[in-house]
Amino acid sequence: MMEPVADPECATLAESAITIDSCLHDGRERSLADDVLDGLTRPFKELPPKHFYDARGAELFDQICELPEYYPTRTERAILQASAEELAALTGAAELVELGSGTAAKTRMLLDALHEGGTLRRYIPVDVTETMVRSCAEELTSEYPGLKVHGVIGDFERHLDRVPDPTGARLVVFLGGTIGNFPPGSRRRFLREIARLLGPGDHLLMGADLVKDPQVLTQAYDDAQGVTAEFNRNLLRVLNRELRADFDPEDFDHVALFDREHEWIEMRLRARRAHTTTVHDLGLSVHFEQGEEMRTEISAKFTRERVEDDLAAAGLELVSWLTDPEELFALTLARPPR
Ligand code: SAH
Ligand code: TRP
Repeated sequence: MMEPVADPECATLAESAITIDSCLHDGRERSLADDVLDGLTRPFKELPPKHFYDARGAELFDQICELPEYYPTRTERAILQASAEELAALTGAAELVELGSGTAAKTRMLLDALHEGGTLRRYIPVDVTETMVRSCAEELTSEYPGLKVHGVIGDFERHLDRVPDPTGARLVVFLGGTIGNFPPGSRRRFLREIARLLGPGDHLLMGADLVKDPQVLTQAYDDAQGVTAEFNRNLLRVLNRELRADFDPEDFDHVALFDREHEWIEMRLRARRAHTTTVHDLGLSVHFEQGEEMRTEISAKFTRERVEDDLAAAGLELVSWLTDPEELFALTLARPPR
């Protein structure tokens, strides 16, 4: 049954256990168009990473998570496994809000612990990929009897105000090291936005990838099977489909390099030959020199100090710092000051 639509940009479809809010529609295309107009007309071309995740991109990302070189997923999973019970006890969360939830594979460990602790009532996944939010809602409501799922299909940089009002102690989770995909300035701005979702007694659980041997890092973003390369090039297929561009993905090489000064990984696409592409929907011609590189993502690596400073800048204090024995990856529990 359709509910009245309050915000014309966000339609709500309510069923008993599942509510889905969609904030995308035209907004999605508009934001891609704006990002292309802005990013491909600069001397150093750049596109933001959220456009990677169409259905194919989400599938490729899942494959990345299983790669031997890509240690973050399995490491974060191990940390969660070891600490889920403690986190459930510390937070006593009645609702879990997850930003960039994807398939919520690792989240199940937290849901299990909160479910067993008897506090969990609602899960609120927020993701740009519609299929992810919908299938995750279906799966979790059947896996956890009594759980309500309120999914938000939207851009977490623009639609955090669409997260429903809290109904009890809240735990916001932001996993996968996705915080590293923000450039430093907007990272702190985004953390401040997240902090606004938290009241007294609420918590944020955030995953951050740690600074380490550059070779380990570059391999994690340039695997031997070429899955990451395919994921990177998939961005061009998104532009071809959504904006009628005529990129040939085979005209570009995948590049992953570690920037030692900033301590972040950069993902780029490098033109194999000089050529000009047309983005028909925007009436835009884009020229690439041979060897010219376009930045498609940064993935910042953290130290404990950097995470604490960023949290403090957002008005949050560290409660626990959880890491694996090799200190590859860290989970941080934070809260508003009491
Ligand atoms: N949390 C999962 C997935 C991480 S991949 C994990 O830890 O494995 C990043 C996820 O964030 C993807 O599912 C992608 O669709 C989503 N995402 C990326 N940018 C986004 C944005 N701006 N707004 C909402 N979701 C976004
Ligand atoms: N949040 C992930 C990370 O920074 C995203 C990611 C992993 C990614 N591998 C990628 C993004 C390859 C683009 C290309 O680790």
